[in-house]
Amino acid sequence: MDAVMLVGGQGTRLRPLTMSAPKPMLPVAGVPVTAHMLARARDAGIDRVVLATSYRAEVFEEYFGDGSAHGLQLEYVTETEPMGTGGAIRNVAERLHGGPGDPVVIFNGDILAGLDIQALVARHTGTGAAVTLHLTRVVDPRAFGVVPVDDDGRVTAFLEKTPDPPTNLINAGCYVFRRSVIDTIPTGRPVSVERETFPGLLAAGTAVMGYPDDTYWLDLGTPAAFVQGSRDLVTGRMASPALPGPVGDCLVLPGAVVAADAKIGGGATVGAGAWVGAGAAIDGAVLFDGAVVEAGAVVRDSVIGRDAVIGSGVALDGVVIGDGVRIERGNELRSGARVFPGVVLSAGAVRFSSDRT
Ligand code: GTP
Repeated sequence: MDAVMLVGGQGTRLRPLTMSAPKPMLPVAGVPVTAHMLARARDAGIDRVVLATSYRAEVFEEYFGDGSAHGLQLEYVTETEPMGTGGAIRNVAERLHGGPGDPVVIFNGDILAGLDIQALVARHTGTGAAVTLHLTRVVDPRAFGVVPVDDDGRVTAFLEKTPDPPTNLINAGCYVFRRSVIDTIPTGRPVSVERETFPGLLAAGTAVMGYPDDTYWLDLGTPAAFVQGSRDLVTGRMASPALPGPVGDCLVLPGAVVAADAKIGGGATVGAGAWVGAGAAIDGAVLFDGAVVEAGAVVRDSVIGRDAVIGSGVALDGVVIGDGVRIERGNELRSGARVFPGVVLSAGAVRFSSDRT
């Protein structure tokens, strides 16, 4: 069966991390976000995936190649201009092998989902729907596009962010399309499946089915979600065949150096070639490859970019530090602060900042 993975977004909510790598290639629990869902797709019997790329397209092929090392056949289609989610799906149509009635599974490249992919496809083929959407329940759906369904599971509306949502089911970013429906998406201009294609199908009376599902689901689009997703993979709350080590309290990748009395836990990841000094504490945080945390520093629920240096005694909580940034001793940052590449925070410059730096 054919699948498409959408990986061409700019990932603006994860800046500055996405200035050097596209969001689906950022390492979460040691491997790119995309690698986790590709491995799950493979295990569900999908053998061929077309990656729809745009922003920093070259990085995907450099890492995944033809896919053989990952047990998949991978192809790449690059948009010259970003075509949006629907435009990207339409843009790969010629590379799909199936016939007009065959199912094509579409994945957003920034989602972690425990979804049973085979069951989603079975629901789709069993009902004969044009499109079947994976739906997940969230506690507060007001910030999402909600997707109410009737008693038969048929989607009745697509409602963009509304103050009084009629359901807590939201679009989870994985769909099965009947191949012929992809061919009806307009070419040559950006199209959003959420805002144009799906509402258009409903307006035309076409059967769009929902597949509500209560397994693990997380959109890794924000720094807090990125950290949580990494923790959940490391600790095994979200199972992934691509996890590069045993499930546990932390994941320390080969080539990392950790002082004997440093404390690494809470599902933290220490990247290849990273260095953690004496008495430092890394709690639930993600250290990219080559990051340095000097003696006595405390890093909690944060992402530390490649080759960044966190000085001795620094305290970080809930922050994003860009690649190569240097935070010298005595600084304390928390609550959503982001430090962009090129910045050196000299000793004691910031305490308790939640501003962009
Ligand atoms: P933000 O800028 O932070 O919202 O992230 P994003 O650019 O990734 O957008 P969003 O999270 O809404 O995208 C959902 C999925 O679709 C992600 O996997 C994106 O990589 C992908 N995507 C979004 N826009 C495009 C596009 O124009 N082309 C392609 N090929 N993929 C896209």
